[in-house]
Amino acid sequence: MQREAAVDRHATWCQGNSMTKPIRCLLTAGPTREHLDPVRFLSNGSSGRMGYALAEAGLARGWEVDLVSGPVAITAAMGVNVHRVVSAQEMFEACERLFPKCDIFIGVAAVADFRPKVIEVHKIKKAEAVPMLELEPTVDILKTLAGRKMPTQRAVGFAAETREVELYARRKLAEKNLDWIVANDVGRAGIGMEAADNAVIMIGRGGERAVFGPAPKRAVAEFILDKIAVR
Ligand code: CTP
Repeated sequence: MQREAAVDRHATWCQGNSMTKPIRCLLTAGPTREHLDPVRFLSNGSSGRMGYALAEAGLARGWEVDLVSGPVAITAAMGVNVHRVVSAQEMFEACERLFPKCDIFIGVAAVADFRPKVIEVHKIKKAEAVPMLELEPTVDILKTLAGRKMPTQRAVGFAAETREVELYARRKLAEKNLDWIVANDVGRAGIGMEAADNAVIMIGRGGERAVFGPAPKRAVAEFILDKIAVR
């Protein structure tokens, strides 16, 4: 019953915002890789499953879905526009290009926060001494693009935390100018990062708070899209 009401309100929002045009949703998913030489890279653990589940759920609602994905071992549902990238910079450039056309931007990717300052052209040889890595920050894709959003656009982020989950999530909601933040505790075994199931706390900029899971990521995706659509 609750879900039906949410879907009705979602349909109203669709009409209100884009008339007859489908909602355009831009998603980031998976990890990024920041190479230090042609064979080695810094990265984050991420299967991409949460982002891909959201893409599939959006598509099933008749949305136009652009999925900017880092390297993952899964395939997207047929009909999703997949844009493959490797590094945070490539992910940013693809998103920057697609962002002006989207109604909803959801940053699910586990973007590497740092990258080596120098990428060696050839493989670093271990006999040549232990390398000292100098790192520099990558661009915060979500924060940069959410900072540019128009009143008709919505931005949603994920907060992967191992402690003080809600506190850090609320901070990210404000600092990144988001409409919703989806907090997940990645320190719990069997759920979240690289797992089939997830458990989330959603916090809205208007003070809303909703919890869901543990549940399969596709069910979590439906919950998230219902919430985003009713605001
Ligand atoms: N994000 C992003 N670009 C980055 C880093 C993060 O777009 N360079 C997005 C993620 O996709 C996610 C949100 O920002 O939606 C929060 O990511 P998270 O890794 O939880 O937090 P960080 O902002 O990286 O901060 P910290 O690592 O200190 O927790």
